[in-house]
Amino acid sequence: MAAPVISQIQLMLLSVACLFISGVVSTTFTITNKCDHTVWPGILSNADAPALSTTGFTLQKGETKTITAPSSWGGRMWGRTHCTQDSAGKFSCLTGDCGSEKLECSGSGAKPPATLAEFKLDGYGGMDYFDVSLVDGYNLPLNVVPQGGSGQNCSTTGCVADLNGACPTDLKVVSDDGESVACKSACEAFRHPQYCCNGAYSTPDTCKPSSYSRIFKNACPLAYSYAYDDKTSTFTCSSADYLITFCPSISTSQKSSQGQSADTAGTRDSADDTTMVYEGALAISAASPSTYSHVLRSHAIFGMVSVTLAIRCLGLLH
Ligand SMILES: *[C@@H]1O[C@H](CO)[C@@H](O)[C@H](O)[C@H]1NC(C)=O
Repeated sequence: MAAPVISQIQLMLLSVACLFISGVVSTTFTITNKCDHTVWPGILSNADAPALSTTGFTLQKGETKTITAPSSWGGRMWGRTHCTQDSAGKFSCLTGDCGSEKLECSGSGAKPPATLAEFKLDGYGGMDYFDVSLVDGYNLPLNVVPQGGSGQNCSTTGCVADLNGACPTDLKVVSDDGESVACKSACEAFRHPQYCCNGAYSTPDTCKPSSYSRIFKNACPLAYSYAYDDKTSTFTCSSADYLITFCPSISTSQKSSQGQSADTAGTRDSADDTTMVYEGALAISAASPSTYSHVLRSHAIFGMVSVTLAIRCLGLLH
């Protein structure tokens, strides 16, 4: 009876070591402001994910901040612009405001319109899912550049075009001094189910691109332009870190868009390996209860988790 317990401990050590070596325990987000003005990024974790070390901060022009997220983290990031603090100490922004009245958003999201970078780390089959979304409108150009990851469409996405300038008049958000500061989505501007993909238009079959969403899609082909724009707007990587840049230079985005052989039905090379390893781990987990039926239930669970982690982790290293 001692043997299985020892092997479980060995497996656990292997998986812990492996997790550290491959770095899958955390993902690094490097956020840079290349705008010619200050940006105040906001971060909102999904309901099932922990808050990160910051939920809102100041990023002077040229400044970079690095944040780590635990495995399986999910959430969104955006930039706030034209932020001020009034005499009573109340902080607010003209775009992307999260309503917290403070620099930290502390669990509140961006008031549309705002360009969003969305992430679900280790979402399915060991792959991170990410996208840049204009579904809630646009306020700043931004892109997401994966670093060191692998996968069939592990490539740069974003919206680099100036949609504040190119925004249709009826969607434009203009500041008091006449500057175009954001561009609403048609859903936000007109509240019609046809644009919002709700009510009678709540399925991919019934909710189609509109003349408004096409303006967004033409300007930013890699970004979500309406709710069911998934096919051309969702990107996946395994074991990547991510650079998020506000106002990326055009040359950066051109260089990055060549990695986007993407939208074709390409071969599923490395993504398939990961999926197979993942399914293999699940199969072994399923076999475990009988294998370990003679040991304590907690040991069995412990062992299953270790086996799963070790095999998945080895798959990611490979
Ligand atoms: C990226 O791959 C995922 C998973 O195979 C797929 O659903 C998505 O449509 C692809 N995205 C692009 C932009 O090709």
